Amino acid sequence: MNDLFAAPHGLRTDLAKQACVLHGFALPFVDALLAGVGCVSATSLFRHFVTPGGHAMQVAMTNCGPLGWVSDRRGYRYVECDPLTGAPWPAFPDGFLALASAAAAEAGFADHVPDACLINRYAPGTRLSLHQDRDEDDHVAPIVSVSLGLPATFLFGGFARGDKALRVPLVHGDVVVWGGVDRMRFHGVLPIAPGLHPALGEQRINLTFRKVH
Ligand code: SIN
Ligand code: FE2
Repeated sequence: MNDLFAAPHGLRTDLAKQACVLHGFALPFVDALLAGVGCVSATSLFRHFVTPGGHAMQVAMTNCGPLGWVSDRRGYRYVECDPLTGAPWPAFPDGFLALASAAAAEAGFADHVPDACLINRYAPGTRLSLHQDRDEDDHVAPIVSVSLGLPATFLFGGFARGDKALRVPLVHGDVVVWGGVDRMRFHGVLPIAPGLHPALGEQRINLTFRKVH
């Protein structure tokens, strides 16, 4: 799908020493990614996890790959099986690992092989508050975050919650990569503005690839 307003291919914006946006990097993979999200979510449905505090999360989530991120009253953690099906999370669909490794390499992280992919679904109005990804054993390996569908404003902050955060516009096909010295930065997503994306309709899908072990 051609996106008139996307930045040209090959353009990169540095956010910090080891963090960048690879504009449009996922566009050649989009058909495979969307087919994959469809397959994964037909088996392991999108659901709203409950936080340890007892609130349903606004973002709907599912996972694929060896490990999946879950939350319930007992806390946040990675598990090998979907608690809804009792079966292992669906395997990485075709194209997922290839994209994650290629994006990591382009951002300066050679030979990166993630073992988890969280799939986030945002409806208009949905936000994700500032947080650090800290449920992984590996706090250095990069996070590869792929944006599909409606645009978003990504917040990329510092190492304390109150640090000033950059506001980074992300569109369909953009990939953000952060790792190394920047791996533990706070980040989040402002409420998604209403809109209709030609390929995805009224939603934003984000794929977050991580290395847990
Ligand atoms: C996340 O931090 O898990 C998701 C970020 C995003 O949706 O862009
Ligand atoms: Fe995150």
